[in-house]
Amino acid sequence: MPLQPHQRTKLDNADDAVFYDYPRLVTHVDSGFIQQLTDVYREYLQPNSHVLDLMSSWVSHLPDELQLGKVVGHGLNAEELAKNPRLESFFVQNLNQDPKLTYPDQTFDAVLIAVSVQYLQYPEAIFSEICRVLKPDGVVITSFSNRMFYQKAIQAWREGTDDQHVQLVQSYIRSVEGLSDPIVISNQTPQSTLLSWMGLGGGDPFFAIIARRTSTATAG
Ligand SMILES: C[S@@+](CC[C@H](N)C(=O)[O-])C[C@H]1O[C@@H](n2cnc3c(N)ncnc32)[C@H](O)[C@@H]1O
Repeated sequence: MPLQPHQRTKLDNADDAVFYDYPRLVTHVDSGFIQQLTDVYREYLQPNSHVLDLMSSWVSHLPDELQLGKVVGHGLNAEELAKNPRLESFFVQNLNQDPKLTYPDQTFDAVLIAVSVQYLQYPEAIFSEICRVLKPDGVVITSFSNRMFYQKAIQAWREGTDDQHVQLVQSYIRSVEGLSDPIVISNQTPQSTLLSWMGLGGGDPFFAIIARRTSTATAG
């Protein structure tokens, strides 16, 4: 178990649906971050893939030129999701109350979680479900920066450094039999970290943790 019970707690304990009740038509990270995320998607997503964009909103950060198969969105605000031009369909589900995905085993080629993993209280259950709905060799791409809605992030995230966030997401993935050892993509160097600490940083730090469903994985 990567997380102890107290590490799953939030400062705002109210139902997450209340917090996301009104649409936020904003971008949650800067353009440099989004460009790097789009480049990662361009590298890892194949044309015609079926994609599940978990914890999505009105933007998906997918490359415009990439022709995809079915793109399913998920989040907590239907108004935001309805404005997302890449989604063929979407569903609203509070993953902290119900981590089960309704899709059959091996439905998707790729599952994405962009700048949202910090809000998951039971990430092991979610990544287990992600593994189940991925096709063999399908990819899960989890990206994050250092921004968050502080009161809605879990304690382990609120009190962690960037490096600890990377280790945390890696531990979520390693907790699931059937996901490969994750790789980490980051724009952070010792120099950029130091400049950021001095308040001279150049943009949002970028982290993507990438794993695949191994072909030998058992469902569930
Ligand atoms: C910072 S936004 C990121 C949205 C989008 N992925 C992006 O890159 O702009 C966080 C998203 O996480 C989703 N979210 C937060 N808590 C959630 C929960 N308990 N269950 C499901 N989704 C949740 C919200 O719908 C929200 O859109």
